[in-house]
Amino acid sequence: MTDLHIDIDRLIDRLAALAEIGAIEGTQGCARLALTDEDRAGRDLVVSWMRDLELDVTIDGVGNVVGVMAGSTEGAPVMTGSHIDTVRTGGRYDGNLGVLAGLEVVETLRTANMTPTRPLAVAFFTDEEGARFPPDMLGSLVYVGGMGVEEAHAIQGIDDTTVGGELDRIGYLGPGPLPGPTPHAFVELHVEQGPVLEAEGLTIGAVTGVQGISWTEVTVIGQSNHAGTTPMTLRKDPGVVAFKVGSFVNELAHELGAPQVATVGRIEMHPNLVNVVPASATFTIDLRHTDNDVLLEAERRTADFLAATAEAENCTIETRSLARFDPVVFDETVICAVERAAAVQGRTARRMPSGAGHDAQMLARVCPTGMVFVPSVDGVSHNPAEYTSPEDLEAGANVLLHVMLELATT
Ligand code: GLV
Ligand code: MN
Ligand code: MN
Repeated sequence: MTDLHIDIDRLIDRLAALAEIGAIEGTQGCARLALTDEDRAGRDLVVSWMRDLELDVTIDGVGNVVGVMAGSTEGAPVMTGSHIDTVRTGGRYDGNLGVLAGLEVVETLRTANMTPTRPLAVAFFTDEEGARFPPDMLGSLVYVGGMGVEEAHAIQGIDDTTVGGELDRIGYLGPGPLPGPTPHAFVELHVEQGPVLEAEGLTIGAVTGVQGISWTEVTVIGQSNHAGTTPMTLRKDPGVVAFKVGSFVNELAHELGAPQVATVGRIEMHPNLVNVVPASATFTIDLRHTDNDVLLEAERRTADFLAATAEAENCTIETRSLARFDPVVFDETVICAVERAAAVQGRTARRMPSGAGHDAQMLARVCPTGMVFVPSVDGVSHNPAEYTSPEDLEAGANVLLHVMLELATT
């Protein structure tokens, strides 16, 4: 059985076909923000592949899709999966790899006429990116009961839509129960999205957990005025507050040291004109760390600096938490299963935490969970240039196959 392996050409063909939907011209990347028309077309394609593989497909009330392959015994399935939504300037591997590698595991077993002991499930969860509808990992959060379905439906997007309205519009408001059925175990294959594996010349990461994530939206309100006539001492300039805070969180992350990271990724100013002191600035702060105490310190110091800076600039502030997830530690048995499956293929798996958020961190709330990482060239992700070589994709999907088979016999 150890020589059972996936078909890399078939996996790459599926990745390419899915990447054609929402393709960003002149790049290898895609724009399939959650619950857009492009997301719907991507969903339809993946569901059609699930049906071709005779999976039993369920769509739940937040649009999560789960396809189940029967095992030789009844009981909770070993689940794999990820997401097929992307950021607006996304790559073709982030999320998509985990879902399509799951289908590849199923097809490999079907082709070999093998029935796993436990059922196997392949899932794609809604709005993992959170780029259109915060928080990230929304679908998997609701799947595990971390948020009620009504609360999820009411979430407003960056474009004045709601999750419930868009699910209904694209036809993915399904009847499946929420919270969803608890899997026996969950394992997700994903590109690393960072530089570590490549730098160390390794192919497989055995992921030990996911760092804590804190997203805040800040709105600073000042007074719109003439850029030429308003003396510097009389201004109420929200742009200045935004720029100072952006600079502060960057310096704070350097001071706290790795793995602390800090990003201001979105900023909107009104009225956004060259000769007008802005009336308001709305921006986001993304802070992450593997240690919750350090993350709490970063949040506190950022909030203090924001308040003091707004006061000094005669502006007022409103803040809104968009996402806050504590660091997650994965299950030792699944981490060991990843290491064993890598070793069987002559690979050394490196234990490492994940810097990005993943659906696996939500599934870890309800069942033994782990992840497999494969290298990202130059550590680039959330960028159309994201790339992982076919050899590394193949190695990762084979590790996924053998981890799932091992977990399906326990
Ligand atoms: C979501 O995938 C994130 O890590 O931002
Ligand atoms: Mn992802
Ligand atoms: Mn992503």
